[in-house]
Amino acid sequence: MKLPTTGIIWMNGEFISWQDAKLHVLSHVVHYGTSWFEGIRAYHTKRGTAIFRLPEHIRRWERSMKIYHTTLPYTGHEMEEVCKEVLRRNNLSAGYIRPIAWRGYGEMGISPLGCPVEVAVAAWELGAYLGEAAERGADVCISSWNRLPPNTMPALAKAGGNYMNAQLMKMEALRNGYDEALTLDVDGNVSEASGANVFVVYDGVLYTPPVADSLLLGITRDTVLTLARDLLIDIRETLIPRGMIHIADEIFLAGTAMEINWVRSVDKQPVGNGTQGEITKKLKTRMADITHDGIDPYNWLSFVS
Ligand SMILES: Cc1ncc(COP(=O)(O)O)c(C=O)c1O
Repeated sequence: MKLPTTGIIWMNGEFISWQDAKLHVLSHVVHYGTSWFEGIRAYHTKRGTAIFRLPEHIRRWERSMKIYHTTLPYTGHEMEEVCKEVLRRNNLSAGYIRPIAWRGYGEMGISPLGCPVEVAVAAWELGAYLGEAAERGADVCISSWNRLPPNTMPALAKAGGNYMNAQLMKMEALRNGYDEALTLDVDGNVSEASGANVFVVYDGVLYTPPVADSLLLGITRDTVLTLARDLLIDIRETLIPRGMIHIADEIFLAGTAMEINWVRSVDKQPVGNGTQGEITKKLKTRMADITHDGIDPYNWLSFVS
């Protein structure tokens, strides 16, 4: 994800230039990873620019902070309007929106409570997250790093510090020539990818790990489950043992940046017959109806103008 060098960022209530969006080196977040963020996509649909599932993202953002006894100093509605305005001010008809809140400069020490809550929203253009692997299918590995067990750091919070674990997975995958990593929970069941949820098709049934399996409750995960239910696909939210990954008919990753990306191999072994599966294709088509054609039966699009 290459960042631009110019543009407008909203920070603590003001629209400022890209270069001026700075924070102090002694901010709590720099030392202790104290941040909560979202990743949201806007699409250039046939009916105009629309942000996908904006209220759900803002709600999850607030919930991520709640786990850490922190409140967003703006209403959800205000933040939704800021997201739209950031797109407009950067002349983006599609792109990736990054709202982030953090504990700033105040006190130094483990407790963040004496440090102010600061907030920013930026946006930029974003193509396929895994580049050419979007078309050809992703080559993934099973990471040697486990996902965070539930009573260590809550995976349900989209918190900056959690991504130290994800970075280890991702770097290991890239170093070994893979596009992405799947990670296991401490018991050896498949949890998620470094920045996306995972789905497995086995004998026509769509499986995904349950909420308690050390994962982020992805909004795309919910989207996929909703679309699958309406396509009358049999769904199971259940533990997926590692072995199932090797005998799956189809595997795909699902996330806002990732969208739906099929997996062609795991640890160098082809998934199914090594081509994109039918259930994956059906779900991608239903997604495109919404994000490309602007057909919106679920009320998931927030139009920007
Ligand atoms: C660790 C992790 N899991 C899952 C997801 C997918 O979540 P969503 O579909 O809400 O983007 C993300 C992306 O934000 C992520 O970082």
